[in-house]
Amino acid sequence: MTDAPRRLSPDEVGAVAALARTVWQATYPALISQAQIDAMLADRYAPARIHSQLDDPCHAWWVVGLPPAGFAHVFTDSNAARLDKLYVHPGRQRRGLGAALLRACAGWARAQNLPVLRLQVNRGNTRAIRAYEKYGLRIVESRVFDIGDGYVMDDHVMEMRL
Ligand SMILES: CC(C)(COP(=O)(O)OP(=O)(O)OC[C@H]1O[C@@H](n2cnc3c(N)ncnc32)[C@H](O)[C@@H]1OP(=O)(O)O)[C@@H](O)C(=O)NCCC(=O)NCCS
Repeated sequence: MTDAPRRLSPDEVGAVAALARTVWQATYPALISQAQIDAMLADRYAPARIHSQLDDPCHAWWVVGLPPAGFAHVFTDSNAARLDKLYVHPGRQRRGLGAALLRACAGWARAQNLPVLRLQVNRGNTRAIRAYEKYGLRIVESRVFDIGDGYVMDDHVMEMRL
């Protein structure tokens, strides 16, 4: 099966938001509250927000599979590429889709002449941390980030040179 990452098209925004909920519900209940999951999904996957990012050259969304089985979102953040989202359907994990999405994001970031790819990952998300280490990222900072509305994220910051 060919699953080369492609840029997300506007008509797939709803499918990606639904996929995000599926992956989040399989991943985060052990790590953060359901209220925080619901609030973050509503904020980060609001269709209007994704559509405006699709129109913004400082952002790039990638998707694999038809219908979408995984997606990633990277954007320019100061002089670094910020990998803001990397999610693969629970039934399709561990087959290299995450690695392919990461490569697409890193390639985009190199084309923007950005020297570093950076991300945040929940400190308890050991599978994702293992995946990121396998992709070549290293932990550079660990702290609690206040994201407002009474919610925090207890994260590692991980980076790789591009
Ligand atoms: C993290 C994630 C994006 C990786 O994508 P993927 O397609 O599953 O990963 P790949 O096939 O590219 O690489 C797999 C590596 O990740 C780690 N990994 C991924 N899923 C794992 C699992 N269920 N158990 C253990 N290790 C796992 C392993 O190191 C694995 O390498 P290996 O198979 O050679 O041992 C994906 O597992 C995912 O969506 N997880 C849930 C959501 C999440 O936590 N996203 C990151 C938010 S910061």
